Amino acid sequence: MTRTRCDRTPIWAALQTQFDTTGHTFDLRTAFAANPKRFDTFSQSAPHVFADLSKNLIDETTQNLLLDLARQTGLESHRQAMFNGEAINNTEQRAVMHWLLRNPPLTPVHHTLVATDFVVKSLDQVHATLDAMLAYAERMRADTAITDIVNIGIGGSDLGPQMATLALDDYATQGKRFHFVSNIDGHELASVLKRIQPESTLFLIASKTFTTIETMTNAYSAKAWFKAQGGVDVARHFAALTTNVAAANAFGISTTFGFWDWVGGRYSVWSAIGLPLAMAIGAQGFREFLAGAHDMDEHFRTAPLAQNLPVRLGLLDVWYRNFHKLTSRSIAPYHSALRRYPAYLQQLEMESNGKRVDASGDTLPFGTSPTLWGEPGTNGQHAYFQMLHQGTDVVPVEFVAVKKPKHHLPSHHTLLLSNVLAQAQALMQGKSDAGGHKHFTGNRPSTFLLLDELTPTSLGALIALQEHRVFVSGSLWGVNSYDQWGVELGKVLARDVEVRLKSGDVTGLDGSTAGLLTRMR
Ligand code: F6P
Repeated sequence: MTRTRCDRTPIWAALQTQFDTTGHTFDLRTAFAANPKRFDTFSQSAPHVFADLSKNLIDETTQNLLLDLARQTGLESHRQAMFNGEAINNTEQRAVMHWLLRNPPLTPVHHTLVATDFVVKSLDQVHATLDAMLAYAERMRADTAITDIVNIGIGGSDLGPQMATLALDDYATQGKRFHFVSNIDGHELASVLKRIQPESTLFLIASKTFTTIETMTNAYSAKAWFKAQGGVDVARHFAALTTNVAAANAFGISTTFGFWDWVGGRYSVWSAIGLPLAMAIGAQGFREFLAGAHDMDEHFRTAPLAQNLPVRLGLLDVWYRNFHKLTSRSIAPYHSALRRYPAYLQQLEMESNGKRVDASGDTLPFGTSPTLWGEPGTNGQHAYFQMLHQGTDVVPVEFVAVKKPKHHLPSHHTLLLSNVLAQAQALMQGKSDAGGHKHFTGNRPSTFLLLDELTPTSLGALIALQEHRVFVSGSLWGVNSYDQWGVELGKVLARDVEVRLKSGDVTGLDGSTAGLLTRMR
C-alpha cells in the first residue's frame, strides 16, 4: 500500500485552481436552474440509506477532480489494506477490523475477502464471542428478576451502545430499563443508584482497556454500593465487556465478553460493547444491526468511487474543509430517538481525524476534522438555526430523515418531514429583503440522508456509512484515524492535579491553575 497525502498529489493544485476560478462563487440556485437533472446526478443510493448530495457546493468538474484526488492518494489500496487486516493503525501497530465484527461467518472459502490467516482466525473468534454474548443477552432478557441494566463505560464504551439503544427503543423488550453511567461526576452514578435495587440490577462494566479512571471509579463504587445494599452474588450481577479479561477477573467479575485490540473504542458498538443493545433488541435484532452495517461495508469495499456513498461524503468533507475552509458541520437528525447521534458522531469524527500531524508525524499544512455539533430537529430550529440561516459563517448541515414513523400520530410526522424539507430548502434558497434583517443569503449547503425506516438494519448501515466516510477523509488527509494520543496529556495532568487538590501544593503550577485550585479547596 502506498499512500500519498492529498496536498502532495498532482491534482491538488488543479483543485485549488478550480476553487479559485469557479468554486468559491458557485451558486446552488444557478446550478439547479442550469441542470434539471442535478438531483439525479448528485444523489446516491447505498444499502438502506439514500443520500441527496445535490444541495452541496459542488459541480461535476469538481466532483471528478475530487475522485481523481482520491485515486492519486491511493485511497483504494488503503481501503484494501484495511480489509486485508494490515496494521494501518501504524502508531500502535494494529489492524483496523471493526468491519470484521459484522462479517458473516466464513463459508469454506470466503468469496469477498482476501482472507489472510489472521483475518480468518479473527473471524472465528468474532463469531464464537458473538454467539456466547447473544446467548447471554437472551438469557438476561428472559430473566424477569433483572429489571435494570446499568452500563458503566465512557467514550466508545458508552456513546455507541447508548446512541443505538435509544435509537432502537421501539424495538426494545418491555420490562427492562437501561441506564448509562459514563461521567466521573458522582451525581450521574448516584442518580441511577437511587432508582435501582441490587437484586434486580445487572451492571455491565464496559471498557476496552479496563483501566479508564472514570469507568473503574464508577465500577468500584457500584460494587461497593451493591455489597452495602446486601448484594452478594457479584458473579450474577456484574459482567465485563473488555479486551482486558484478566483485569476484569481481578476486579472480581467472572462473566466476561472479550474483543480485540484491532477494534478502536469508537468503532466498538459491533463488539461485546454492544451488549446493552443486544439485551434491548434481542439476538435477532442485533444480528440485523450487524447485517445492515455489513451491507454498507460491501458497498464501500466494492462500489466504484463515483457511486460510492462513503467516498462521495468523504470527498465533500475535504472540499469544504480544505478549499472552502469551513470548520464545522451541523448534524440534524429529524428523529428524536437519534438524540445521541450527534454526540456519537463527534467522537467518531473528531477523535479519529482531529490530528495535526500525518501518519509519519509530519505537521500538516491544512485543516483536518471539522467540529461536529447538533441536536435533533425540530428542536434545533428554535435554537441555533438562526445562525445557520443568517450567521456570518457557512456551516454545512447534514440532515437525517426517516420516511415511515413507528408511532400512530401521522399529523406529527407530516409536520416533521415538512420541516426538514423546508429547512434544507430555506438554507439553499434564501430570501431577498432590502431591509437587511429579514434577508437570507441562501446558498448554504446541506446533505440529506433518508432512511425508509429506523430499524436495526438501517441504523447499522447509517453508522457504518459514517465510519467509512471518516476513513475516506482521514485517508486523503494522510492521518492515522485510529489512534487518539490527544486524550493522554489531560489524563496524566489530572493525576498530578488530584494529588495537589488533596495537599494544596501549587508549587510550579501556572498562575491560573494555582489560583483556581486554591479556590476549589
Ligand atoms: O480517552 C479516550 C478513550 O480512550 C476513547 O478512545 C475510548 O473510547 C474511551 O477512552 C474509553 O476507553 P475504554 O473503553 O478503554 O475504557
